[in-house]
Amino acid sequence: MDERDKPGPDKLDWPPGSNASGMSKVHVKSFGCQMNVYDSNRMADTLAPGGYSETADVADADLVILNTCNIREKAVDKLYSEIGRVREFKEAAERDGRRVLIAVAGCVAQAEGNEILRRAGAVDLVVGSQNYHRLANLIARVQAGERIVDTEFPADDKFDALAAPRREAIARRGISAFVTVQEGCDKFCTFCVVPYTRGAEVSRPVDKIVAEVERLADANVREVTLIGQNVNAYHGQGADGRPTTLGKLLRRLSAVPGIVRLRYMTSHPRDMEDDLIAAHGDLPALMPYVHLPVQSGSDRILAAMNRRHTRQDYLEVIARLRASRADLALTSDFIVGFPGETEDDFSATLSLVEEVGYATAYSFMYSPRPGTPAAALENQVPPGEQAERLQRLQAVITRQWRAFNAQVLGHTVEVLLEKPGKLPGQLVGRTPYLQAVQVMAPRAMIGSLVNVAITDIGTNTLFGALSEPAPALAAAGA
Ligand code: SAH
Ligand code: SF4
Ligand code: F3S
Repeated sequence: MDERDKPGPDKLDWPPGSNASGMSKVHVKSFGCQMNVYDSNRMADTLAPGGYSETADVADADLVILNTCNIREKAVDKLYSEIGRVREFKEAAERDGRRVLIAVAGCVAQAEGNEILRRAGAVDLVVGSQNYHRLANLIARVQAGERIVDTEFPADDKFDALAAPRREAIARRGISAFVTVQEGCDKFCTFCVVPYTRGAEVSRPVDKIVAEVERLADANVREVTLIGQNVNAYHGQGADGRPTTLGKLLRRLSAVPGIVRLRYMTSHPRDMEDDLIAAHGDLPALMPYVHLPVQSGSDRILAAMNRRHTRQDYLEVIARLRASRADLALTSDFIVGFPGETEDDFSATLSLVEEVGYATAYSFMYSPRPGTPAAALENQVPPGEQAERLQRLQAVITRQWRAFNAQVLGHTVEVLLEKPGKLPGQLVGRTPYLQAVQVMAPRAMIGSLVNVAITDIGTNTLFGALSEPAPALAAAGA
């Protein structure tokens, strides 16, 4: 038995009367970012030894876990409407004499705790993002009749105590996997809840990450995306016992047999260090794609946001990245209508977008979050003005996104085939720049790197045809 297979403190520790019979089903629904997707999988992995198998059908579940996001007010509203929907399934099951438990996990759980139990009588358990390794015991207690809120930040390492993904579950989840390498944030941007909901920045040690990636590769995963709220602030313990960098971690992981593509997100402009930038130039497995949120193009607003970088700093980071890897695709996040944002500030954001030229970008209206410094500012921008600016920004981003996609039309690009497409005989894959491509190819080619000639561009996807196999296909032994 290797280290990863050992039961953690709460694993396999099901008291009599819990679902040890292997008959129960859990439905986990993720909202928000990839960190939640990763956590949802790990929660399912942790519950598996206690007899819970995963179901995609909420009506079929004995336990429903809503893994929530608190980033904007809308995300929180979504939770309460989702609880209402799940409550109907719970009540219908109860009329049939079957008990269904509802657990709320993730960032709203962390932020609102008890308030959720008070507002939503159907909820049985509220569990914060640092406590998932205690899930099995919490569920057992809920089955025994308690209603529980567990949102403390414990000192023990959640990752160590969480069950490792099972081979069968990895295979079901596909050939592209996320691995959390860093969690939490110490940056305290004035608009953001993440430092409060995810706590201080913590990095996992290199050997644990390597072991997890090897395990994924063993189960046919070909692409790994390293994730963290501030992934490039990664400073986990290396083999020599000293903190290492994301650049070095990527170099180490590029040597794991079977892993042909590496990605990482989300990065902060201040933490884009030289060795990470250099890795883009000399690691073939590291994809030419960086998500580098800037939020605003105005120095005045960047300062009010406490981003701790200027427009010029950001442009310099991008110049260094592009000098290392000329075909790098860049994406970003923007907030419009931050308190005090004037038309001039907003114009600076538009001009930054024009200057950088993004593959795509996400843009949001500023949403005041309780407890964050910006929520207390007086000069809030009226929602109508925010919406109008958002529309103008999104028009520019959409134009850039179309232009970016148009560049590959008529060219041959390397595509990693990921899963079946909508039509029989069709597979969906991704280019190095994360564009989805539909291509006619046999199912057995899932997991292969192939050359695809791009023949057409749809609304959300490219279309292409297989051409000669890529050299990497032979090199990877696929
Ligand atoms: N750690 C990342 C992203 C965290 S949250 C970073 O530093 O960029 C993802 C995105 O949500 C942010 O980039 C930001 O654009 C947006 N966001 C965060 N808080 C917000 C708020 N209060 N209102 C609107 N958008 C917000
Ligand atoms: Fe939030 Fe800023 Fe931290 Fe990103 S860097 S998670 S935006 S506080
Ligand atoms: Fe949302 Fe929490 Fe992620 S607030 S964006 S789920 S870290």
